[in-house]
Amino acid sequence: MSLFRLDASIRVEGSHSREIADIVEREWRAAHPDAPITRRHVGTAALPSTAWSDATTARFLPPEKWTATQRAAVDLAARLTDELLEADALLFAVPLYNYGVSQHFKTWVDTVLADPRMAAGAYTILAGKPAVLVTVRGGSYGPDMPRAGWDHATPWMRRILGDVWNLDLRIVESELTLVGIDPNLDQFKDLAVELRVRAEQSARDHGRSL
Ligand SMILES: Cc1cc2nc3c(=O)[nH]c(=O)nc-3n(C[C@H](O)[C@H](O)[C@H](O)COP(=O)(O)O)c2cc1C
Repeated sequence: MSLFRLDASIRVEGSHSREIADIVEREWRAAHPDAPITRRHVGTAALPSTAWSDATTARFLPPEKWTATQRAAVDLAARLTDELLEADALLFAVPLYNYGVSQHFKTWVDTVLADPRMAAGAYTILAGKPAVLVTVRGGSYGPDMPRAGWDHATPWMRRILGDVWNLDLRIVESELTLVGIDPNLDQFKDLAVELRVRAEQSARDHGRSL
């Protein structure tokens, strides 16, 4: 058994997504004490922003015409895809940034999709693999909140990981992580504690299911 874990937070200290993903990882580790973990810290060790375009344009050319950067990008896409294929379980920790998907996570997904094994019609190579997505948001986007519907990241991640890659996906969500930092959110202090407790329980449950 092996685990692949990706972190997309741009920080390490105080990162809620890392803390909650650590809970998932601990549960998985308890069941697999000696198994290897492959890590990608795309938020703090970003992939080159040109990797996707270089890997994609390389596919329009015969290999002998590839530039050095295209060759490197093709190799990177293959390595990232290998990491997914070789793992028995997957864990993603991705915060909401600017109402959309983390650019680092998007670059990683796009680069993986540039590998021919992940091309349209070949997605089933990951089908059924157990995966947990931990996603955290500073604000709150529930149906009664003024910004309901402004989280454009979670539906996209659900689409890619669950519907396109066909992973056996479970999602742990935590909201209001900016309570205590943004004074406008002070009124939600109790709710933030409640949501965090729920997220941690969900992380334990889903970690065991991995
Ligand atoms: C540049 C930036 C943009 C952010 N944009 C949003 C946002 O649009 N909506 C939101 O709810 N929180 C937003 N946040 C707050 C983060 O989602 C929140 O701090 C989260 O806990 C970050 O993940 P981390 O704790 O793992 O680092 C933003 C944070 C940063 C640094």
